[in-house]
Amino acid sequence: MTRAEIGIIGGSGFYTFLEAPERVAVETPFGPPSAELAIGEVAGRRVAFLPRHGEQHQFPPHRVNYRANLWALRSVGVRQVLGPCAVGSLREEYGPGTLVLPDQLIDRTWGRAHTLFDLDGTHDSEGPVVHVGFADPYCPRGRQVVLDSAGADTGVPVDGGTLIVVNGPRFSTRAESRWHAAAGGTVIGMTGMPEASIARELALCYTTVAVITDHDAGVDQTTAVSHAEVLKIFGENIDRLKALLRRVIERLPAAESDADATCPCRRALDGLPLPFE
Ligand code: ADE
Repeated sequence: MTRAEIGIIGGSGFYTFLEAPERVAVETPFGPPSAELAIGEVAGRRVAFLPRHGEQHQFPPHRVNYRANLWALRSVGVRQVLGPCAVGSLREEYGPGTLVLPDQLIDRTWGRAHTLFDLDGTHDSEGPVVHVGFADPYCPRGRQVVLDSAGADTGVPVDGGTLIVVNGPRFSTRAESRWHAAAGGTVIGMTGMPEASIARELALCYTTVAVITDHDAGVDQTTAVSHAEVLKIFGENIDRLKALLRRVIERLPAAESDADATCPCRRALDGLPLPFE
């Protein structure tokens, strides 16, 4: 089977990122991922790309099969995942086009299949009870590589911040938005969870790079966030994001190198029963 060491879950704009991509259909115990994997080369590394919302952008954030997506990536050998996403800003000082590298998140999603340790999704399923550590939800090494890779042409991401993940698909009211800001949120999105925690349940390194597409409704009191505006601003910034991720991919530690194998993310399941193999 075609293998890859690095995975990207992002918008369909990333299809053109890969050289000589091959389509690989993967089956998982959780059903089909959002699409077939596209596996090819980026900067000499083997990379698997998965369009988070499907090839036709048919899966809204609450219907993305996050479990299958991460499982599929891992099953072809991926150990490091990059999950770029579009977000709204909860801070006046961070405007559209700003890149943010969150180091924390607050999960406000509900009703999403959010764990691998619940194979048939019912309370009477048999299986190990497992609690993975999630105090630091993002890969520390992946974050550092992003910071080291940024330059004047890509824009330097804001280092740190809290991503609030809401269920959507609607945007927030102004009151909700102010509340999220008061709770300590820096940016707000709809896809960051359970993507990050399922990656942790598979002991994968997971790094998100958030692209601000708007000021959320509590910050900009005059206008409301619109889907069209989010798509437009994301499209205007995709080349910058790709340039940054290309450099990140060049610099990520080689699979099974010391720097790779000793990352704390890989120890997430030490001493716990594995959900795979
Ligand atoms: N994605 C992009 N902008 C957003 C916002 N303001 N709220 C939630 N998700 C978003």
